[in-house]
Amino acid sequence: MELTLLSPLDMHLHLRDGEMLHNIAQASAHTFSGAVIMPNLVPPVSNKEDVVAYKDRIIDAIGNENFTPYMTLFFKPDYDKTFLESVRNEITAIKLYPAGITTNSEGGVSGFDVEELRPALSAMAELDIPLCVHGETNGFVMDREAEFVSIYEKLASAFPKLKIIMEHITTKESIEALDRFDNLYATITIHHLLITLDDVAGGMLQPHLFCKPIAKRPEDREALLKVALNAHPKVMFGSDSAPHPKHAKEACGCAAGVFTAPIALQVLTELFEKNNTSFENLQAFISGNAQRIYGVTPIYKKVILEKKSFKVPAEYNGVVPMYAGEELSYSVKEIIDG
Ligand code: NCD
Ligand code: ZN
Repeated sequence: MELTLLSPLDMHLHLRDGEMLHNIAQASAHTFSGAVIMPNLVPPVSNKEDVVAYKDRIIDAIGNENFTPYMTLFFKPDYDKTFLESVRNEITAIKLYPAGITTNSEGGVSGFDVEELRPALSAMAELDIPLCVHGETNGFVMDREAEFVSIYEKLASAFPKLKIIMEHITTKESIEALDRFDNLYATITIHHLLITLDDVAGGMLQPHLFCKPIAKRPEDREALLKVALNAHPKVMFGSDSAPHPKHAKEACGCAAGVFTAPIALQVLTELFEKNNTSFENLQAFISGNAQRIYGVTPIYKKVILEKKSFKVPAEYNGVVPMYAGEELSYSVKEIIDG
C-alpha cells in the first residue's frame, strides 16, 4: 500500500546552529516543504541581522534540498512598530517564551502585563505577524499548561486581531480554549499524540521522551488525538523536534526535547491508519491547515510512503531519535519536488 503526502509542513522545529545544524537539518529538509524555525539559540535570535544570518546558515546546511525555513524572532516586550516593520519581510512569526521555562529561554517574558505588552502585540496584530507561545507557568509541572490557559485568554481577548498559536499543546484544557477564541490556534507534536507521563517515568526513566511541556495524562492524549485525527481546522502539526547530543540526554540533568524529525511522516501515517482515519485529514493536519492559518504557500513536494517496515536508526549523527532501534510500519519510498 502506498500513500502520497503533498508539501508537508512542520510548524514548530528546532534546527539549532553550528555542527548540530549541519548534522540534523537534512532530516527535516528532505521530507518537509518547510518548517517554522524556533529562535532559542544562544543568544536568542532577536534582531534583523541575526535572523537573516541564521536563515543563511540554514540554507547552507540543507544543501540541495527544496525547503523553506520560516523564520521567527524571540519575543521581547520592547519590540516597537518601527522595528517590526523593518523586519516584517524576514519573518513568519514571533515566538514568546516565559522566562526560564525551557531550553535557552532565560531572556523571555516575566509577568504577563497586558499594558506592558500592548505596544509590541498591537503592532504585531497590525502587521499580521502571528505570536507563537510556549504556554507554561512556573507552577507544578503537571499543571503548568492548564494554568497558562488564563494567560492565553487574557491575551486573546486584549488583542482580538492578533493570531496566537498555542505551541505544542498537551492538555484538554488547551483544546477547550481553542474553541472559545477565534484568534487562538495550536500546534501538536507527534510524541504528545503517542505518549503519556507513564511512558516517560512510569517504568525505567526514558530520557529520550523527556520534553517540555512534559507528556500528560491519558485523557489529555485522547483529547489531542481527537482534534488531530479530525484535522480540527485550528490545529497544525508542529513536531517540536528538539535535538540534543546523546550525552546531554543520557545524563544527570537530562536536557528537555524529543528528536522526531526523521520519523515524523512515517509515524503520523501509521497513527492515522491505526485509527482508521482518512488520509485527507492527515493531509490537512500536516499541511492544509497550516497553509490556511499562516497564509503560506509551500514548495511543491510529493512524499510517497509505502507500507514497508522501517527500522529506526539508533542515532542520527549523535542524536537519538524517538523509537530508536524499533520498527515502524511505513517507510518513505520516494520524494518528488522541484
Ligand atoms: C525545546 C528545546 O530543546 O529547544 N525543548 C523541548 O523540550 N521541547 C524547547 C521547547 O520547545 O520547549
Ligand atoms: Zn520547541
